[in-house]
Amino acid sequence: MCSSGPQGQTEQKMLRIFCEGPSEQRAAERSADEHSEAEAPEKSSSKKYRNMKLEHIGIAVKDLAASNELFASLLGQAHYKIEAVESEGVSTSFFMAGESKIELLEASRADSPIAKFIEKRGEGIHHLAFEVEDIEAEMKRLQAEGYRLLNETPKRGADNKLICFLHPKSSNGVLVELCQSIKD
Ligand code: CO
Repeated sequence: MCSSGPQGQTEQKMLRIFCEGPSEQRAAERSADEHSEAEAPEKSSSKKYRNMKLEHIGIAVKDLAASNELFASLLGQAHYKIEAVESEGVSTSFFMAGESKIELLEASRADSPIAKFIEKRGEGIHHLAFEVEDIEAEMKRLQAEGYRLLNETPKRGADNKLICFLHPKSSNGVLVELCQSIKD
């Protein structure tokens, strides 16, 4: 019904305007600029548009078992895995949350970064993790743009990932994790 009759035609026209307008305009701009930009160097690939997926939100907790129950009741589902990362001094659990995940982190030793975080700021959101395809390339790109990396080379994280953290001072006080899935 919507695709026929005068109203349907108007809608289709509107759709064309919305769908094709900007690209037609861009094409026109490209064509107008063709001569002036013909000899300009290629724009840096570091500036290309990205849409990084929020892979997970990390939450620092004091008691993983108690928080697993709390989040299971909140999200209406149990965690799908528990994993200790000895090198980081943490025990983690993961919940699905739509396209993203929730990672609960409990300190497994006194000098763990999670223990220090909770001591200083209490329980709560600890980091945001964004998925990248090529972690080394992203690390180089962000370093070149002035972000401070907390590790110089990617390290092994939970949930079969290579990870790297950015210093929170680089990003409005938010600890950011880059993560790349390890393909076996
Ligand atoms: Co994480």
